[in-house]
Parts: sequence; structure tokens; C-alpha cells
Amino acid sequence: MKLHVLGSAAGGGFPQWNCNCRMCSGLRTGQINAKARTQSSIAVSDDGIDWVLFNTSPDILQQIKAFDAGQPARSLRDTGIKSVFLLDAQIDHTTGLLMLREHNAPLNLYTTKPVHEDLSTGNPLLKVLDHYCGINWFEVNPDNRAINLPGASNIDMHPIPLTSNAPPYSPRRDKPVPGDTLGILMNDKSSGKKLFYAPGLGEMEEPVWDAMQQADVVLVDGTMWTDNEMIEAGASQKTAASMGHLAQTGKGGMIEWLDKLPKSTRKILIHINNTNPILNEDGPERARLKEHGIEVAEDGMQVVLEAGS
Ligand code: MLT
Ligand code: MN
Ligand code: ZN
Repeated sequence: MKLHVLGSAAGGGFPQWNCNCRMCSGLRTGQINAKARTQSSIAVSDDGIDWVLFNTSPDILQQIKAFDAGQPARSLRDTGIKSVFLLDAQIDHTTGLLMLREHNAPLNLYTTKPVHEDLSTGNPLLKVLDHYCGINWFEVNPDNRAINLPGASNIDMHPIPLTSNAPPYSPRRDKPVPGDTLGILMNDKSSGKKLFYAPGLGEMEEPVWDAMQQADVVLVDGTMWTDNEMIEAGASQKTAASMGHLAQTGKGGMIEWLDKLPKSTRKILIHINNTNPILNEDGPERARLKEHGIEVAEDGMQVVLEAGS
């Protein structure tokens, strides 16, 4: 199984267009050692030719341009992306769908029912797309049962329900239901390796923890370092928890959980918010992650899971 990180930042990207926080201005002025990042999305493949796209960020055109393997160029209009799986209905994970409207057939789209509902009502992207390529919708049940998607037919995808939050525009904001946000346990049948992916993870509940313990690689929510990071930066009144993101530090934080996994598990954070000090590669927070064996995803990063590795 091959995984390509198209974008590794949370909503807004890094630097965020209107933000002058320590990290955003530090990157612009060169005062910190950090890399720019686009908004979170990954592509997964079992043969390196056909791909499943997980989430479609507003930066998708830039991301696809930087992803040579996604354009096999076999015909005038072509793409390696065979299907799209949306793990939630957040703006940063869905609005890029509109940029795929030139597709020469309806897009194979996998979402849960609540996500489909939000994308047909509060943010009716799917209705708009019907006037272009249209979509071929497959309903995903958040029940852990394996499904197989075009683009990665040899990888069992287990949709794990988890508690995060529904988008701000959703009628279910602050009262999410199972299916508003998913994590995915990917079981690559050719290598026998497993990867767990959850860019939005608010609470470490039993099904999520079970999946993480099985995985050879976990690629999980790295939005914020502290729960009140955006408040301290003066950027917002929202805590990480209120947005459905488990902060890295503090009691019961992501670092504590990742520490409980086997040493052999590769641990990578993704969906990094632009206020998060781990973006500074020379900072003490990044050093602390290193001590715990935790990596930080960056755009263009590739992860290959093969038998024996
Ligand atoms: C989130 O992950 O909580 C949202 O994407 C934030 C946003 O898009 O503004
Ligand atoms: Mn987000
Ligand atoms: Zn910022």
C-alpha cells in the first residue's frame, strides 16, 4: 500500500492567508524553520496507478499538480483518482470537490449519510456538482465493516465512527451523531499491513483505540498542541475540544495515548493547525515529539507499507 500526503495542515493551511500568529508570521519572515502546508488530504493506492482520494481540500488543484503519480496521462482527459472518500463534511475536507467538476464521468463518492446530508443542504456542493460531472454516491455505514473502493480494491477499508464535531454550519454542530466524522482502518491484503487514518479525532473511544492498536502506522489528528492554543494566540475563542480535536499535550492528550502504542508502530500527526508550535522544526515542542517517536506529516510525504517492512 502506498500513501501520499497531499496536504498536511488543518483548515486555513499554513501560513493562513490572514494570520500573523507566531507560526504564520515566523514562516513568512523566515524567523522559524518551518514548511508551508496545504489543507489536509491524502491519496492511497495498492498498485501506485489507481488511487483513492481521502478528503478534497480547497487546495486540491495545487496538490494534484504536485502529485505526478495521480496523472497517468493515458487519454486526453485522465486521472489516477478512481474514487473519493470524505471522512467529514468540514469546509477544509470537501470544497475541493467542486474543482473536480471537469471529470468525464460521475465521481465515485463515498460518505456517510450525515455527511451526504450536510453536503446536500447546508453546504449543497453535491447539488451544484449535479450540473457538472455529477456524483455516483455510495453510502458508508459507520460500522467498522470492510468496504472496498475503486482505486484500492485490495485494501479493506473499515469505517470507524468517532466523536469529533459536525461542521459549524451543520444542524448537528455540538451534537454530532455517529457518521459525522470517521476514522479509517486500512487493511492492505497484499502486505498484511494496516494503517489507521483520522485527521479529526476528538476523543479516544474504544473502537478508535482498538483500531490504533492493530495498526502498523497511525496517521492521526495533530491539530493543536494545547487545548486553548487559539485562545492564547488571540486567534479565536474556540478550544481544540470544542472543535472536535484532541490536543497533543495535557492529561489524556494525544502524546499520552501514542505512548501506549507499541514502539514498532509508526506514529504520524496530520491536520496541523497553523497556530501549532510543532510546525517549528527547531522548537522545543518538535523536540518533545521526537523524544516520543512521533513524526509530523508534511505535504508530499510518502508512506509505503510492504510485507516484511
Ligand atoms: C476543523 O477541522 O475543525 C475545521 O476544518 C476547521 C475549519 O475548517 O475552519
Ligand atoms: Mn479541519
Ligand atoms: Zn497562524
